[in-house]
Amino acid sequence: VNLSVTESGSATGSRLDRFHAAVLVQFCLEIASGFILSLFYRPANPYGTDRLLHASWLRGLQAFHYWQSALLIIESLGLVGAMAWSGRTQDRARPAFLSGCLIFFASMGFQLTGNVLPFDRHGVGTAVIESSIAARAPLVGGLLSKLALGGSQFSMETVSRWYLMHLGLTILAIVALALALRQGPEYRKRFRNGVVVASFLPALFLALCVASPLGSQATQADFSSFADRSSWYTQPLHGALILCSRIDGSMGWVGAMLIPGGFAVAFFALGWMNPAIARKVGRIEIGLAVAFFGVASLGFGGAADPLTGTRDPVEAKMEGGKAAPIDAALAANGRKLFNSVGCSDCHGADGLQGKAGPSLATVQNRHFDSAYFMKYVKNPQGIDPNTTMPAFPQLAQAQLRAIAEYLLMPQKPAGR
Ligand code: HEC
Repeated sequence: VNLSVTESGSATGSRLDRFHAAVLVQFCLEIASGFILSLFYRPANPYGTDRLLHASWLRGLQAFHYWQSALLIIESLGLVGAMAWSGRTQDRARPAFLSGCLIFFASMGFQLTGNVLPFDRHGVGTAVIESSIAARAPLVGGLLSKLALGGSQFSMETVSRWYLMHLGLTILAIVALALALRQGPEYRKRFRNGVVVASFLPALFLALCVASPLGSQATQADFSSFADRSSWYTQPLHGALILCSRIDGSMGWVGAMLIPGGFAVAFFALGWMNPAIARKVGRIEIGLAVAFFGVASLGFGGAADPLTGTRDPVEAKMEGGKAAPIDAALAANGRKLFNSVGCSDCHGADGLQGKAGPSLATVQNRHFDSAYFMKYVKNPQGIDPNTTMPAFPQLAQAQLRAIAEYLLMPQKPAGR
């Protein structure tokens, strides 16, 4: 065996071991913070989880929990990617590699299931979308979606189930930790040298300095809303879903479930592959995954939710199938018009209270394009001949556009 290769291999190896140790420490911190949060969480009544929402130290812990989970996804993916790239998936490196893979799967699972738990509008909206994707799988789709929702539709039961899945993933986490600790004393030395201290600093920094993307409380209207954009970590999956549904409308699940699942299994299998080819196969798999998910998320993923600050689609509307920001000045003008040209006579002040017409507070969840509202308000009978909503042919296009912009606002009134 070429000595220099062995030496450089082991230098890479010890750097990877230290990285792995750092990821493990963060993983443990994540589970510990989750445990503390769970003491205050009531899945059956997330509306009533006031203590979580109001005690500032708990909010801080929630922010830490959020940012640490995001970092764990990125870091564990980087870790197993580097391990596979350098061929460290076999023999003595296998437990570490498998543990890294499990940390990634667990982190993704925690993120997907934890997404709904803060019970903000985005979390609920994306949970609705995730379940509807599961429902599209052939044969088992109906069953999957029923299991995931706890009924035919999103409800409080759904939150309880996702919370249970979230807690259940701890089993995967324990296996990942046990695998890592099965390595020799050489490995355990990596936990010294400041690794422990250094590893939780990034999440702590983010929790203290960057607003975590939690939003306003979910309402019943969000239980059936499909208008949410994807989060950064689901965007590759979302892109793959769209890419495959472009090929054939019923193939979305292939992109969102089958292909990612196939990659996961193939990657995991590197641990048992013939050592002579494992590294080459690993590099090919990484190349394919980067190419496929890169094309999918950049080409088809669409706009993702903002990474910080409120993650509700508050200041966004759908325009031509794409999310676009609300024009605040135009919407404010629209609100004035709404209250002055007669709309409020039937829809209440700001359209929030139905009188002779329905409340329009959540109308943006049913129609996304301003063109629709402009057409509808000008001549409702042109869209629905039986409607009793009066036509407003006297309104100019500019006025209609402003009113439409106001109607598209997820949180009315505009002058909040
Ligand atoms: C005379 C009462 C009345 C007035 C005035 C009125 N509306 Fe309506 N509007 C209704 C009724 C009733 C409906 C429900 C129609 C239906 O369901 O067929 C409705 C429905 C709507 C809808 C569709 C809601 C949905 O869920 O699809 C929009 C949007 C709307 N109105 C906007 C406006 C705007 C903007 C104005 C002012 C320019 C206005 N309305 C003035 C009675 C009124």
